[in-house]
Amino acid sequence: MKIAKVLVSAEEIEAKLAEMGRAITEDYRGKDLLMIGVLKGAFIVMADLARHVDLPVEFDFMAVSSYGAATKSSGVVRILKDLDEEIEDRHVLIVEDIIDSGLTLHYLIRNLEVRNPASLELAALLVKDGIDRPPLDVRYEGFHIPPDFVVGYGLDYAGKYRNLPYVAVLAADG
Ligand code: IMP
Ligand code: MG
Repeated sequence: MKIAKVLVSAEEIEAKLAEMGRAITEDYRGKDLLMIGVLKGAFIVMADLARHVDLPVEFDFMAVSSYGAATKSSGVVRILKDLDEEIEDRHVLIVEDIIDSGLTLHYLIRNLEVRNPASLELAALLVKDGIDRPPLDVRYEGFHIPPDFVVGYGLDYAGKYRNLPYVAVLAADG
C-alpha cells in the first residue's frame, strides 16, 4: 500500500480546525464544555481542534469497536472504554475523525443521550459524500470527501498511517 493522492493537505486541515474552533468558542462561551473524543481515530483531531478552542474545556474519551467486516461498519458497536465521568447536565461535544456509514455515531449518540447531557453536539473533520446513512446532525464539520478509503490525521489502514499530517487516498496495490 502506498499513498496515491493527498486529498486534504496539512495546511487546509489547520485552517479548517481553526475555523471550527472559533465557532465552538463562540457557541459555548459561558458554558461548561466537555469534549469527548472517539478513540482511536479522533485523537489527533481532538488535540489540534481543542487548541483552537479558547474556553476552559474538559476532555474525556470513549473507545468503540464495530462488529462485522473490517472495512464496513455493521452498526453493532461494542464499548471498549467508556467515559471516565458522568455527563448528566454537561454540554457535550463528540469529536470524530470521519463519518462513513454513520452507524458508530448513531449508536454513540443514542448511548449518550440517555445519560441526560444538557446538550449533545457533533464535530467531525471528514464527512464522506454519496453514502446512504441515517440522518446525523453534524454541528461542526470540516470537509466533505468522496466515498473512498482514506488514511492519515488519525485514520488508519491496518493500524498504520494515523500519524500522517494530511489525509490521503491509498493506492489499491503496491
Ligand atoms: P462509520 O460508523 O461507518 O461512520 O465509521 C466508523 C469508523 O470507521 C470511523 O470513525 C473511522 O474510525 C473508521 N473509518 C470510516 N471510514 C474510514 C476510512 O476511509 N479510513 C479509515 N477509517 C475509516
Ligand atoms: Mg473512528
